[in-house]
Amino acid sequence: GHGASHVFVILGASGDLAKKKIYPTLWWLFKDGLLPAHTYFIGYARSNLTMEQIREKSLPYMKVQKNEEEKVEEFFKLNTYVSGKYDVKDDFIRLNEAIEKKGKSNRLFYMALPPSVFESVTLNVKNCCMAQGDKWTRIVVEKPFGKDLDSSNQLSNHLASLFKEEELYRIDHYLGKEMVQNLMVLRFGNRIYGPIWNRDNIASVVISFKEPFGTQGRGGYFDEFGILRDVMQNHLLQILTLVAMEKPPSTDAEDIRNEKVKVLKSIPPPSQENVVLGQYVGNPDGSGDEKEGYLDDPTVPKGSVTPTFATVALFVKNERWDGVPFILRCGKALNERKAEVRIQFKDVAGDIFREGEVKRNELVIRVQPSEAIYMKMMAKTPGMSIDCEESELDLTYGSRYRGVKMPDAYERLILDVFMGSQIHFVRSDELSEAWRIFTPLLHHIDQEKPKPIPYKYGSRGPAESDELLQRNDFQYTGSY
Ligand code: BG6
Repeated sequence: GHGASHVFVILGASGDLAKKKIYPTLWWLFKDGLLPAHTYFIGYARSNLTMEQIREKSLPYMKVQKNEEEKVEEFFKLNTYVSGKYDVKDDFIRLNEAIEKKGKSNRLFYMALPPSVFESVTLNVKNCCMAQGDKWTRIVVEKPFGKDLDSSNQLSNHLASLFKEEELYRIDHYLGKEMVQNLMVLRFGNRIYGPIWNRDNIASVVISFKEPFGTQGRGGYFDEFGILRDVMQNHLLQILTLVAMEKPPSTDAEDIRNEKVKVLKSIPPPSQENVVLGQYVGNPDGSGDEKEGYLDDPTVPKGSVTPTFATVALFVKNERWDGVPFILRCGKALNERKAEVRIQFKDVAGDIFREGEVKRNELVIRVQPSEAIYMKMMAKTPGMSIDCEESELDLTYGSRYRGVKMPDAYERLILDVFMGSQIHFVRSDELSEAWRIFTPLLHHIDQEKPKPIPYKYGSRGPAESDELLQRNDFQYTGSY
């Protein structure tokens, strides 16, 4: 038969990420016919498992439909499993033999691994498993990319000593979301936004991430990182760069990433008065999980001061943005699930209407749930009335693009790795700048252990966060 065109290797195939995200994603791409023909999959992990066992672990997350039984058989026929240690070269030589058995192929290695084995695995891949001749090798890595600027740079140097930057795909799955990818088109594909996208017209920008659940037994992992490293330094800051960057000369990955790095370089670390940290406590009136605070999670160390909520105002010190607050806000165990960007415009100059009647324009980009873009704007109250009221120009995807299936972020990103597109992946200098911005605050928290402000599970977070927004020229105009 045919040799392989591509072999996709999942390192850490027995783990949580593999079963919940990677195998399901590969299956969805496969069944939709999006993968190159003759792609094979090899799982690798320490446990002495069979492919049958890996399959049983992943199936609950794969959402296989009734009429897809045959297809799913076909998918698993393309899968094999190799067990081996992460620090034993001979085991990687065996892995390489398993890859070679499929024929001459391009190779993708997905590192679904804990940070402790990351260095030895990448070293062994480099020494034993690289593609030969005209075939390429690509390495996909996931956070955590270190814990601060130094540890991250150390990891980057290690990777740079083994692989070329074109071979490295650092995943930030927020870059795979529809509305995050849409930011470039919104800004640079519309005449109307360019001229007003600056400090003369924009009062403030709020980028929010809210989750209605707590650590859910993941407290041990979470406590080491906290919400700043888990969500803000990566997902929210990435969105900020796409909102704030200058127009790149083209849509090439390098051109885009150059502009993203420039914006990050213009952002100083936040000052103390622009930071609010919170930690959720149980809500005795709540139901089920809501009764449990962060410190009630048995996997969380006693007396931990790790923030589960943070609001931070950043400033981009360049000609376009000087003085405009970019407020990043994220938290677990809040009142709703939501990720969105709010760009609030300044007041109308020379307002002729009744005092307080005219509200600010606000452009909202809702990332999830239910993707939407809407512009809050004033309109005359319809009918005989002479009053004004706030209304919206509304592009809600669910109604405008009925029936269009939104791919999962991982589907897009893994397909991008096959295609060799690095647009939606984080470059090493970008990562380093992101850490530079947050490292002073993170070190302050690690060393001084300031007490986070308690907020109730299921609430909007600490009131101090809303006050920070108000101080930074964000006017409350409804639910946000
Ligand atoms: C992950 C964080 O990166 O993003 C999680 O580690 C968080 O803590 C998740 O829950 C949120 O992703 P999404 O796509 O569900 O918004």
